[in-house]
Amino acid sequence: MYSISSENTPKLSGEILVPGDKSISHRALILGSMVNGRIEIKNLLESEDVIATANALKTLGVTIKKFKNKWEICGQGIGSFSGSNYLLNMGNSGTAARLLMGVVAGSDVEATFTGDESLSKRPMRRVILPLLKTGAMFKEPDKDTLPITLRGNKIPLPLTYQSPVSSAQIKSCILLSGLSSLGKTTVIEPSLSRDHTERMLKFLGANVETTQLQDMSWKISVQGLPELKPLNINVPSDPSSAAFPIVSAIITPNSKIKVKNICVNKLRMGLFETLVEMGANIEVSNKREINGELIADISSSSSDLKGVKVPKSRVPSMIDEFPILSIAAAKASGNTVMEGVEELRYKETDRIKAICDGLQKSGVETIDDKDTMVVKGMGSNKFIEGGVEIHSKLDHRIAMSFLSLGLTSKKPIIVNDTETINSSFPNFLGVMNELGARLKYVN
Ligand code: S3P
Repeated sequence: MYSISSENTPKLSGEILVPGDKSISHRALILGSMVNGRIEIKNLLESEDVIATANALKTLGVTIKKFKNKWEICGQGIGSFSGSNYLLNMGNSGTAARLLMGVVAGSDVEATFTGDESLSKRPMRRVILPLLKTGAMFKEPDKDTLPITLRGNKIPLPLTYQSPVSSAQIKSCILLSGLSSLGKTTVIEPSLSRDHTERMLKFLGANVETTQLQDMSWKISVQGLPELKPLNINVPSDPSSAAFPIVSAIITPNSKIKVKNICVNKLRMGLFETLVEMGANIEVSNKREINGELIADISSSSSDLKGVKVPKSRVPSMIDEFPILSIAAAKASGNTVMEGVEELRYKETDRIKAICDGLQKSGVETIDDKDTMVVKGMGSNKFIEGGVEIHSKLDHRIAMSFLSLGLTSKKPIIVNDTETINSSFPNFLGVMNELGARLKYVN
């Protein structure tokens, strides 16, 4: 188990690339295995979470190989998986588990899903309930957590499902299962969650419709049995990983950095909108499109921030960014109020608790109140004390957030059990140190 120490850093500067987007990488592998033919994927995120998806697909019989910097997948068409007694280990990844349950539910397959200590505590009923309605059978249908054994159908029932939460994992699970049904599958969600599944399906030739309903909720439908074309996919860089160097430069004095080729899909931009409202110097340049996704370069520099209220409606577009926003908030003057963030309790750890505990230990006041979190910012002129050890709680984003905070705290911050960073940003330490950060492994 490795710990990393983060020390006060005089400045961050330079241009970097961060790895491929995690959500798009999972989907490229999954949909790549369902196209009719062979495709190549460039810039796939080679992190533990994504490799869990690749390994599960290989277990189900898909040929996936890496050649130099490209991944090749031999797609077998929709509904082609079959067999039973598969054991699929999803590691730390909720996305891998929930999306692949959708794939198995739409196939003539019986499989048992397992995961690590963190994933084995996360709720799965949110996908079990809709999948039961498509005809999928669960060994223990009342269970909420992994391990879970599921038998799918080659031709699942088409479904219209009103999801109580805006979750791209729930939505994608249902849409993926619906790909092998004979009719139209529809998901209705309160706010629109990230739409990478829909965009990639459209790019590959499927018929996907997204409409806003009168009550402001969103309806997303896919027509079953599309012919998916074998088109190559270039994965843009992950805005959720870029968030760490971008915020680090904002809170570290004398800094200016640029992160290139980031996916700037507007359903992922909530953190950047919030940072701009807080007064951060952020510039987006060189906008362009690759395989149905918008990408751009993002620059940031040292800024004096003020606390803001983050509206509940923005939560889905920054669901993974609250840990690093809280670090920016700790350096802002005044309170940052984050309402409607209860979903954070069901991530790799209870993130509201992990953020509040870690910040308080580091000398920053916070409030943890049901679905609201408040960070009482110290202002950019006051030093945060630091000099503490923070446990990652097997949550990559908690680990990287507190390492960012250590760059501006008076005394170093040590984060324990940092291997978890490999689930989304394997070269985090190298990339940050290339910019001038003082991060190092300690025993
Ligand atoms: C993801 C969706 C989000 C996010 C996760 C990746 C995805 O979860 O937290 O890291 O790739 O679909 P929810 O949409 O379930 O909140």
